[in-house]
Amino acid sequence: MVTLTHAGVRHLIEEYGGCDRYYTEMISAEAITAHSEFRSWYLDLQPAPERTIYQFLFRDAEAIARVAAEVAELGALGIDLNMGCSAPHIARGGGGIAWMQRPDEARRAVAAARATAPRAKLSVKLRLGERRAVEPVAEFAEALCREGLDEITLHPKTRSEPESRPADWRFIAELQERVPVPVNASGGVTSVELLHRRIDRFRPAAVMIGREAIRSPWIFAHARGRRIEVDRRVAADRFLELLVQHQPPEFHATRAKRFFQYYTQPLRWGARLFQTLKKCASLAEIRMQVHEYLEQHPEERFPGVGAGSDVALCELGELGEFDKARHASGVTPSRHGL
Ligand SMILES: Cc1cc2nc3c(=O)[nH]c(=O)nc-3n(C[C@H](O)[C@H](O)[C@H](O)COP(=O)(O)O)c2cc1C
Repeated sequence: MVTLTHAGVRHLIEEYGGCDRYYTEMISAEAITAHSEFRSWYLDLQPAPERTIYQFLFRDAEAIARVAAEVAELGALGIDLNMGCSAPHIARGGGGIAWMQRPDEARRAVAAARATAPRAKLSVKLRLGERRAVEPVAEFAEALCREGLDEITLHPKTRSEPESRPADWRFIAELQERVPVPVNASGGVTSVELLHRRIDRFRPAAVMIGREAIRSPWIFAHARGRRIEVDRRVAADRFLELLVQHQPPEFHATRAKRFFQYYTQPLRWGARLFQTLKKCASLAEIRMQVHEYLEQHPEERFPGVGAGSDVALCELGELGEFDKARHASGVTPSRHGL
């Protein structure tokens, strides 16, 4: 996730036991091949190169081939092509979800990445597209699979559905029936309990946890049943240390604020705290404000084992017979993150 899943945050998660797989921020392929100033920070694969996938934003097949060649020897687990980001400025530039409108070129892009990086795990991140239906995304994805794709992650929402609307995981199961590669689910996991319920119900190949991994960097450990005692003050301090160690000074303020936007969400007065943090002039001041809040609200400092934030907990309603059919699918789900 842009501004969030940099090496600092990945180290933090790793210190809480880690997850099966990390994804970098969506990195501009052009910025990498143009040798931009921050290139080495974006390409940093620590702390677990063999479990980390580069995700790229790109506008044409040549760009993805060039960047795939450049990163081929850096030791990443794979390359993920972002064809799902719906941010207007990304789509206007021809990246993210705009790829779904250019299926032939998208096929060429997958083929080019496959040819350049034959050993890399090659995946795409998708949304549903324009309509709440599986057909358009399934057709698009089937064609990409024929070019050598290894897996797909679907955020099952349309281009225009707002963040507040729940992702409809029924589309994960529907897409899985249409394509020969594993389909991972992304969207709306806010607690371990909800994660397990969704796995039981929809049987995704794996689950990508996004914002909750920032609210609760320990969620992967808790999902595995590990009893980790969490102290939100210690985690905040450690994040700030890791941010300084693993990001360039130019990024510190923006990335700290983005992190705390999510980290403060589970707190009762988190919205107010975040407004205060946004105005802080230094990381030291952010740290002090977080300490002060948790001193005033000591009951929030130690979330229980297994607890998630449960912010915006969204269930999908009664899905009845649909679920029962999926239970029989026999897929063994795993979980990975970011
Ligand atoms: C701040 C922010 C940045 C994001 N950046 C990316 C990104 O770089 N690449 C990507 O594939 N998805 C990105 N996403 C979407 C998430 O990967 C994920 O699909 C979405 O947040 C739903 O999952 P969640 O409910 O677990 O967060 C971003 C989301 C947010 C909120």
